[in-house]
Amino acid sequence: MENGIKERNSNGLMEKRNWWKEDVVYQIYPKSFYDSDNDGGGDIKGVTQKLPYLEELGITLLWICPIFTSPMVDNGYDISDYQGIQPEFGSMADFEELLEEAKKRNISIILDLVVNHSSDEHGWFKQALRDSESKYRDYYIFKEGKDGNPPNNWRSIFGGSVWEQVPAEDNLYYFHTFDKRQPDLNWENSALREEIYAMINWWLEKGIAGFRIDSITFIKKDQDYGDVPADGADGLASVKHKGRNRPGIADFLAELNQKTFNKYPCVSVGEAPGVTYDEYDKYIGEGGYFNMIFDFHYADIDVENGSEWFRKTDWKPKQLKELIFESQNAIQKVGWGANFLENHDQPRSISKYIRDAAYQNEIGAKALGTLFFFLRGTPYIYQGQEIGMKNFKRDTITDFNDVSSLDNYPRAMLEGFTAEESLAFVNQRSRDNGRTPFQWDATKNAGFNEGTEPWLKLVGDHEEVNAADQVNDPDSIFSFYKEMIQIRNHSPFKDTLIYGAFRPLETPDDVIGYGRIGDEVIQILVNMSNKETAVEKVSGAILLNNYETIEQSGTQSLLKPYQAIVIRKDEENV
Ligand code: GLC
Repeated sequence: MENGIKERNSNGLMEKRNWWKEDVVYQIYPKSFYDSDNDGGGDIKGVTQKLPYLEELGITLLWICPIFTSPMVDNGYDISDYQGIQPEFGSMADFEELLEEAKKRNISIILDLVVNHSSDEHGWFKQALRDSESKYRDYYIFKEGKDGNPPNNWRSIFGGSVWEQVPAEDNLYYFHTFDKRQPDLNWENSALREEIYAMINWWLEKGIAGFRIDSITFIKKDQDYGDVPADGADGLASVKHKGRNRPGIADFLAELNQKTFNKYPCVSVGEAPGVTYDEYDKYIGEGGYFNMIFDFHYADIDVENGSEWFRKTDWKPKQLKELIFESQNAIQKVGWGANFLENHDQPRSISKYIRDAAYQNEIGAKALGTLFFFLRGTPYIYQGQEIGMKNFKRDTITDFNDVSSLDNYPRAMLEGFTAEESLAFVNQRSRDNGRTPFQWDATKNAGFNEGTEPWLKLVGDHEEVNAADQVNDPDSIFSFYKEMIQIRNHSPFKDTLIYGAFRPLETPDDVIGYGRIGDEVIQILVNMSNKETAVEKVSGAILLNNYETIEQSGTQSLLKPYQAIVIRKDEENV
């Protein structure tokens, strides 16, 4: 894995070169990307057919959300066979074809590794339930209840107790961090761990470029399984207190890395919520468990707690700026970051971060693109972000598919909100927002397929927002993303934009500004408000601008609402 060479950049920092630092990642939610066989759900062949589109955009690495055999309770994050392909997505031959076709276009593929839990339909779990003497019983977490109640008061991420009673046995429960149909694997069992490692290596041998590793900070639970003071109206306390990033996890993660990823020239990206910045060194530092992890500190700026959408905040651009700076500075000290605006668990970024609806359009989308894309780290683009897809508005809870939406709705009401208010929270935050069918064109079903009702309702605005209109329009969001990729990866500023140091700039509260310092000095300025805002006079060559001009006024420049610019500083002005 240590395949990089070290270079000293102009900031004096030693920066190691690695191929995955130079990648631009595109995340695909396969059920919603392209439905090649017109059965209502996207599939692997659909991804293969759309490779020319992805190549045109310029991305180099695809992260594909789970395609393994699954009852699809959590759309694939509940796996019943880690080495099989879910038939609705296609076959192993389809996957191998995708791998090969992508390679021809210099696109590599990472898969989603879900090993905190399996599906309740996994053979291991079925045998564990069937036979108390089976070795598989210890592959999961079974405990006796207490006085007719579950073993403790921990709340699962998707709501309700983490414990589910075993049907055939009195007073026996199994543990699930997420849905009851996603029983947690018992990482304390070394035979289980070895089976997981063998499976990971089997996929790596097949030629995939690595993995995004799902919910990995949940694999260690406090072994006392003790109660915690309730933190909600349901009398339960979040599993996060005792089952996320807990002492002892280091041993599991180090072993995982050493027995799998570290043996291959692959990339590992951890979904590691709950890790504090002072622990980043262990996670992504030299010899850390992963090459990069996603930092959720600012993704959840609009809610106090990522999984409880009714605890909303009234955030301001200044806070977003502080959180981004803190994140970049912390990561820069120890390793490499994975930057993103959206993913399959988040609402659409224009709907979340652009607080004035009048700018939830191409101006807002380009401003956000500029803000995140040039941060130090590998950029991740989520499908549809590059054409400015937005949140939907549903009128009834029965229109939702996402398990956590179905949980948040009654929980919000339990906390005292009206049905209408509760539905509004769910609309704003539902994970379904990012999962609606990709809008390829303005025709029926947005060109997602040949006309069969899609598995999830469309947003409904595909006549205005779609890829076909944007691909050949030089002013579109798509073309802007294409240009950002060109500048980061194929311009004379490539080295600075990829390997250069991150440096915060002092700007007015509503403007987020930072520099990338290498052989060149590049500055990024983004006005995150709907008001014209004066900044120190911009000097240098403008590489990118989401407006046609930039207004100068005496010793100042005026940034229009949500104006975003990228400037190459002249040597004398650095
Ligand atoms: C991760 C996934 C999410 C899934 C959960 C349980 O957070 O991103 O989609 O529901 O883990 O696997």
